[in-house]
This record gives sequence, structure tokens and C-alpha cells, in this order.
Amino acid sequence: MCGIICYCGKRQAVPILINGLKRLEYRGYDSAGFAVVGDAEGEKGKSIVVKAKGRVSQLEKKKSGMEIGATFGIAHTRWATHGKPSEVNAHPQLDCKGKISVVHNGIIENYQELKRELEAKGHVFKSDTDTEVVVHLVEEYFQGNLENAVLRTVERLSGTFGIAVVHADIDHEIVIVKRGSPIIIGIGENEYFAASDSSALAPYTNRMIYLSDDEIAILTADDYHIKNLKNEDLVKKIEVLDDMELHVDKKGFEHYMLKEIFEQPESIQNAFRGRIIEGEGVSKLGGLEPVLDRIKKIKKLVIVSCGTSYYAGLLGRYIFEHLTQLDVEVEVASEFRYRRLKLNEEVMVLAISQSGETADTLAAIKEAKRKGALILGIVNAVGTAIAQITDAGVYNHAGPEIGVASTKIYTSQLVILTLMALFIGRYQSVSFMEGAEIIRAITRLPEQVREILDNAEQIKEIALKYAKYKNYLYIGRLFNFPTAMEGALKLKEISYVHAEGYAAGEMKHGPISLIDKNFPTVAIAPDDLTLDKMISNMMEIKARDGKILSVTNDNVRKVADVSDDMIIVPRTLPILQPILNVVPMQLFAYYIAREKGRDIDKPRNLAKSVTVE
Ligand code: M6R
Repeated sequence: MCGIICYCGKRQAVPILINGLKRLEYRGYDSAGFAVVGDAEGEKGKSIVVKAKGRVSQLEKKKSGMEIGATFGIAHTRWATHGKPSEVNAHPQLDCKGKISVVHNGIIENYQELKRELEAKGHVFKSDTDTEVVVHLVEEYFQGNLENAVLRTVERLSGTFGIAVVHADIDHEIVIVKRGSPIIIGIGENEYFAASDSSALAPYTNRMIYLSDDEIAILTADDYHIKNLKNEDLVKKIEVLDDMELHVDKKGFEHYMLKEIFEQPESIQNAFRGRIIEGEGVSKLGGLEPVLDRIKKIKKLVIVSCGTSYYAGLLGRYIFEHLTQLDVEVEVASEFRYRRLKLNEEVMVLAISQSGETADTLAAIKEAKRKGALILGIVNAVGTAIAQITDAGVYNHAGPEIGVASTKIYTSQLVILTLMALFIGRYQSVSFMEGAEIIRAITRLPEQVREILDNAEQIKEIALKYAKYKNYLYIGRLFNFPTAMEGALKLKEISYVHAEGYAAGEMKHGPISLIDKNFPTVAIAPDDLTLDKMISNMMEIKARDGKILSVTNDNVRKVADVSDDMIIVPRTLPILQPILNVVPMQLFAYYIAREKGRDIDKPRNLAKSVTVE
């Protein structure tokens, strides 16, 4: 959601800003723009602002033919919140004189009262955005020093923000401030950058500083400074990211989503590499060691997350219940934070997030922290807000996930959840034999996922056969109930067709009324203890002329008897089976969306990082 990129150096700024915006496209947006100061001769006092509704390619078209030699500026992709997608609502937003430009991620919650106040003072607003109050406030407070004006502005703002500001009269200075929304500073050779995430900066530098909340960065032509809001200088650690953390390339695949589905053998391997001791039947999670004594006293686990990460949490509940003695609750983060929670030092709250930026998840763990719970995280994007706020945690090390639909991170999250549960369970009742069996099964997963991927053509054929339907029901039991929800989410988010994920046993309590020959069911029916009950549900569907595509294991005759089509996946332990079962679900959704000509990596209305609540 919304992306910021800033450049301050000696090279032409516009190509760097446009390239950065393209690399931020995956976050989701509906308009884009940039502001640079000065022309080729370094003329001051003049801002060049170009904005466009739609894709960054539209912005590129608009600026083509313009000679812009400026060597510093700010740029933005906007995902509409206040005011529809339009050129006037796109960022940068400008002050009354057109001298100050601001780009902003997040939401200014008190913008209405600020707007009234500023209008009364004579400021003229042109857009419907909340952001515009920021630039008028900076204008109001500006007395020759941009940094001071921004500091005074921030004192007046409620909400979340990552903001970058330039002034046409101030050469080579960009003032950046963060509260809630992510901002990373990139350190190059005599040039400085800022961006919403590291992938935008990957072509220019791997040296990054993660700003924390209420920090302000000032980029100039030959230096950078970071301060807190009391104007005190801070010395922040420069993180050096490796290739895996920066790599964003389709590697010849038609879409990032497909590439990421096919990366799962490696991302699963990375999730457990160095984290298992086979001979002891135990997992070794260095990230949790510092809080091990506290973990041993924990009685209850609450998992909070959103979307696909929430479905990983739902399965996490079954895994933790299976392997530990903890009471386990799972809650969507947007609800959790408003509940009257009984949290204390015997409760551990686990946030699961690919982006590490999801506003609801962040707010939920802040609330849990206030109440004294131990806060853990499973995060993919290194150094992000959620990773910073947790007491301890485990990174996915799965590399950037660019497709909006989460795929490789989901399976990686499931592996890490299993390792975490085993880590705790081995201090409780899980035996060496049980632990060793789970570990052996985990190490076989990459090869088993490869086997499913080798079968992609057959899954594609099945998907093409089903692509004509407008509604789908996904059902599963126990460990595969969350798989059904996740399968349905994958399909609806990228193909825009209606799909519902249900616990198979719930089907008779409502959804079965939808079933007819045009409403197919995807039944996740592995060969486990729930199979007979699944078969009964499938028979009920058949009796109503419903078509059934089942995901099952080989040689399960009774599934074959009630299925119209089948996808066979390798067998593993029941708690790990969802990791294999979801892979064909991802491919099925992908091929249907492709058949429908959808914008698979950037589906309409969606954002990769949901940074507003
Ligand atoms: O970055 P997070 O894991 O916190 O994101 C949570 C959801 O926004 C995300 O999983 C979303 O549901 C995906 N588009 C699903 O594919």
C-alpha cells in the first residue's frame, strides 16, 4: 500500500525515482507522482511536479519529452484512502505557493480539524486527501528551516505516517519522518535514498538503516542525519542486506506469483535450514533463545495476523494444540486489538506477517505489549516495524514476496510454526521419537513439493476445465480446514470469482443450499482420520449434482469414487499435510486467473502491504 522513494545525490533523480516506483508497484496503488527540484543547471526555487492516475507507465508517458536534470526529489505510489484515485489526489501534495512538496504513506486521523483550522488561516486545499494538511502545516510553520517546520508539523499530527518533504528554495535537502509506516534510508556512495522498503533500493545499495517510529532523517547532497523528535542526534546501525533479501526478478516466469510458487522447495528449506537437530528430535530457534526462560512459564498462546497469515495462524492453533500443552487462541488482528483482553506475563502473543508492516497486526501487538504479554513474531521482511517491536522471533528468510497473493510465505510460515511448537513441545510432553519423526518429515517436504510442481501441467488442465464456474466451495476438516480457507482466498483475490472456504462439517449448516451443477466444490481430503467424515460430506454434494475436485493422496479408492477430478499429492504426517495440499490450490487459482486474463501480481483493489487499519 502506498510507496515512497526519495533520492538525493549527483545523478539525475527522475530515472531513479521512476525505477524505484516500478519496484514498489507490487505494494498496490492506483496513482503515482514525483516532485524534483531544480533543472539541469541546478536552478533553485523551482519544483517540477508530475502526477498521473493509473500505473507508473502512465507517469512515465507524461514526463517523456521533458528535460529534467534535477538531482534530488521525492516520489510516491498512492493507494486511495481519502479521495478517489485521480491526478489531483495523487502525491506529491503541494502548499499554496507550490514551493513545498510532500509525499505520505499512512493516515492522518485528525485531518478534518486541521483542515478547518488551516482554511480559517487562508490555506487553499485542492485535493480530498488527508495528506494535504501536512503540506499546509509545513507551509504554516516554515521560517527558513525545513527540518524545524516538519518537527512542528509532526507535533500536530495523529495517526500513522511515513512522510518526505522538499522545499523548492532549499537545495539538496529531503526531510523524512516516520511514525507507523515503514521508512528505510539507503546509504550509497555520496548519494542517499529513502524508500518504503528495501526492494526499491536494491539496484543502488544494500546498506540500509531502518527508521524507528518518531525518528526524522535529513538527507543532503553529501551526508545524512537521523534525529529523534526532540532534535537529538541518533546513531543508527547500518544493516547490510544479502542478495536473497534484495532479489526481485521474475527469473523467466510469466508472473512473480508463479515464480514464488515454484520457489517453495527452497523457501521451505530456508525455513528449517540450521534450525533442526535431527539426532535430538528437536528444533533450534536462535531467535527464541533470549526469551526461553519466559517461554517455559507461558500458559497461553494467542496468534494474531491477517489474511493468509491469519490462515497460517489458524493452522498454527492445531499444530500447537497437537504438540504443546498451551491453551491456544487465534484472532484476526483487526478484532484482537479492540477486545477486552486478559493478557499478562503468562501469555505469549505471536504475530505472523510477511511484510512486517501490516497496520492491524502492528496495532494488535502494541496493545498486547502494553498489557505485559511476551510478544513473538514470524516475519519475512527483515527489520520491519513488527520485527522491531517483538521481544523475540523467527525470520522466514524466504526472500522478497512480490506477488500480492501470498504463496511461498504461507508454506514457510507453516514450517516455522511447526518448528516453534516442537521447540516448546519438547520441553513439555513431546518425546524424542515424536520429535524425530516430525523433523524427518519436514526435511522431506522440499522434495515432495517439487513432485507436486512437476505435475503443474495436469493441474493447469484441471484449472482450465473449471475456469468457467462463477462460484466455488472449498471444504476441509481439522488441519485442512485452514487449507480450504486459504485455497478459497487465493482464488478470489486473483481471479475475482466467488469462493468460500468452510469447515466440511459446517456445510450442512448453510452452504449446502448453494450446491448445484454450477457450483463446484474443492474437497481437501487427505488419507487421515477425518477421511470417512469427508467422504460423507462429498457424497452429500454429489447427491445434489455438485461437481467435486478433490486433493488427496494416492490409492484412496473411496475418494476416487466420489470425485469428478482429483489432484494427488504425496503423503506426509497429518500436521504437515496442509503444506503439500495448499500447493496445488495455489496453482489452480493461478491458472484460473491467467485464463481470465487477470492482473495476477497486482489484482485490483489489493495491496501487498496493508499499512492502514
Ligand atoms: O504482510 P502480512 O502477512 O501481514 O499480510 C497479511 C495479509 O494482508 C496478506 O496475507 C493478504 O491476505 C494476502 N494478499 C493474501 O494472499
